[in-house]
Amino acid sequence: MAVDIIPVETLTEEQATAELQRLAAEIAHHDALYHGKDKPEISDAEYDALKRRNDAIEAQFPQLVRTDSPSQRVGAAPAGIFAQVTHARPMLSLDNTFSDEDVQDFVASVYRFLGQMPDNSIAFTAEPKIDGLSMSLRYENRRLVTAATRGDGTTGENVTANILTIKDIPTELPGDAPDVVEVRGEVYMAKSDFMALNAQMEAEGKQTYVNPRNTASGSLRQLDAKVTASRNLRFFAYAWGEMSQMPAETQWGMVKVFEAWGFPVNPLTRRLTSIESILDHYREIGLQRPDLDYDIDGVVYKVDRLDLQARLGFRSRSPRWATAHKFPAEQAFTTVETIDIQVGRTGALTPVARLTPITVGGVVVTNATLHNEDYIKGIGNSGDRIRPEAHDIRIGDTVIVQRAGDVIPQVLDVVLEKRPPTAAPYVFPKTCPVCGSHAVREKNEKTGKLDSVTRCTGGFVCRAQAVEHIKHFVSRNAFDIEGLGTKQVDFFFESDDPALMIRTAPDIFTLKARQDRSLTKLENIEGFGRVSVRKLFDAIDARREIALNRFIFALGIRHVGETTAKLLARSYGSYAVFSEAMQTAAPKFGEAWNELNSIEGIGEVVAASIVEFFKEPRNLEVVQRLLDEVKPLDAEAPVASDSPVAGKTVVFTGSLERFTRDEAKARAEGLGAKVAGSVSKKTDYVVAGPGAGSKLDKARELGVNVMTEDEWLTLIGG
Ligand code: IVH
Repeated sequence: MAVDIIPVETLTEEQATAELQRLAAEIAHHDALYHGKDKPEISDAEYDALKRRNDAIEAQFPQLVRTDSPSQRVGAAPAGIFAQVTHARPMLSLDNTFSDEDVQDFVASVYRFLGQMPDNSIAFTAEPKIDGLSMSLRYENRRLVTAATRGDGTTGENVTANILTIKDIPTELPGDAPDVVEVRGEVYMAKSDFMALNAQMEAEGKQTYVNPRNTASGSLRQLDAKVTASRNLRFFAYAWGEMSQMPAETQWGMVKVFEAWGFPVNPLTRRLTSIESILDHYREIGLQRPDLDYDIDGVVYKVDRLDLQARLGFRSRSPRWATAHKFPAEQAFTTVETIDIQVGRTGALTPVARLTPITVGGVVVTNATLHNEDYIKGIGNSGDRIRPEAHDIRIGDTVIVQRAGDVIPQVLDVVLEKRPPTAAPYVFPKTCPVCGSHAVREKNEKTGKLDSVTRCTGGFVCRAQAVEHIKHFVSRNAFDIEGLGTKQVDFFFESDDPALMIRTAPDIFTLKARQDRSLTKLENIEGFGRVSVRKLFDAIDARREIALNRFIFALGIRHVGETTAKLLARSYGSYAVFSEAMQTAAPKFGEAWNELNSIEGIGEVVAASIVEFFKEPRNLEVVQRLLDEVKPLDAEAPVASDSPVAGKTVVFTGSLERFTRDEAKARAEGLGAKVAGSVSKKTDYVVAGPGAGSKLDKARELGVNVMTEDEWLTLIGG
């Protein structure tokens, strides 16, 4: 290993940056070999030379010191601080399926999307879903350079030094591997290792760990790689990120390649075609589950052919070509101590059962949602009975609770024999427990049936709605203001001091100015220190410019989730255009209303709710105050701007023959086009298949460019 010979004094900033990056990876690599695995590759003297070189460059260029620098790792650096890594390809999650029918639906949807008859010709892989932590391992020129956790899917934490201690993970790939390889999979702790560790903790009189998954996560997020090394973590490879070249054409082939490169792959992986064989394998894995030396929580099915995976593509957060078939949730018995009512952002009254604490599948459960009034009575959404014999739930009842993964625990059933004679049916409140306003169940206009949700009619006077609104506003997918968590929002909301209170979202952005003018100083209040106050103000200031979709989502308009907010941002481009259109739109009438409804993915209920929001003067006033403080950025130009259809609006009509409607839509959107459901003056292209009717007529009438499917395919490049 040659230490670079350019004298430090003559290094350019660019050279220094590159070298510090290389040294960080290289020293981490040797650290790991030394502490964790096998034998060191270099002598102590050579190792010291690398460290000295790193220190010398840092002394010359202090502005270039990396957060993952070896100089930052020595001594007692604070735990949990890792450098951020932006994933070259996002790390997505999987949709869940729970029943055989769900799996049949999934398979059918794959065939439907691809426009094929369900004839068992499409192969799927089926493999255990490992209950660990997902990890992305990046190799450049066949050497492990970065290991990153999933994080929020876009950015994760750089845990390279720790990953290097895991024996299952090769630090180098064979010569036939491409130049850039990202192998993804699951880091986990074996059940046997977990039990041995806990036995040791117990023998030493220390507190034991809760479950292998959390222990694996804790062991990995250690600044001292020696701790990670002592925990014997393991790895299974099952997916990939960026690849400079694809070494196989199928999922199965990729897994085989990973195996050949030295990664452990799961031996229960199968390649199957019929639904029956897939479900058989699921049951087989379920039978083996107790005997496996690792925790699993389901079986993952993936379309095998990678070209089909590419055609199927992704929804916002998960691929269309895969699903996780979860094992039935774990259950336990406990009692309902009381029933509380929580009031949400949109005024929904949600009953919550407070339970005698009970461990379900390794986690202590104290609350379970009871959803709504009907659910407590034992009536489902469509008036059906949801519990055998339609038992209602009463305070004092012994109940069966169920916990599935991260989902909020549910009360499944009541043990009638154990019901105390004094237990009376629960009477659902008719008024909001927070503001005292009437609470009502609205009537659904279309069906004439009562809505299942009871809603507080207090609106802005209801403190619960107001405070929940602020919590939504600062949440991760909205303004994402670090340092303003639930506790802090409650504190600022409750405060009566003009220099501290936050009653509506815009107040967040005037907090600092009010503080500056006042004698009450946040930093003197318990729970806030000088550093945290500065960080909070920095975090607030960092959001004075914000992506349009986040801004729209943060407004908390009923029925407008993240996906709808993205659609709106993309369709209208700027806040001014969006708000102007919404204020001119009248329900079920006029150009602005039609345009809103023509956005594919926005239905009438959602559209009506948005228009309703903009009719309320109080909303407009709050938004105006917000706009005085923050600037929503215009929506970014669609990706793939080199495509001739990027930014154009297209309508597909008639029966398509070359692709299914879903595929046509996904493909067009992938190229940056907007797909609309109806033809208007703003439509750029109408792609008409056989049997096209009124939309085609309208296009002709408006002089919109009409083309056949083949012409469209030529336009988008095949
Ligand atoms: S595939 C694009 N396969 O489950 C899909 N994921 O809910 C990439 N997981 O974050 C994931 N075992 O951590 C896949 N055999 C398996 C898995 C698996 C566990 C985890 C993974 C992911 C989560 C998705």
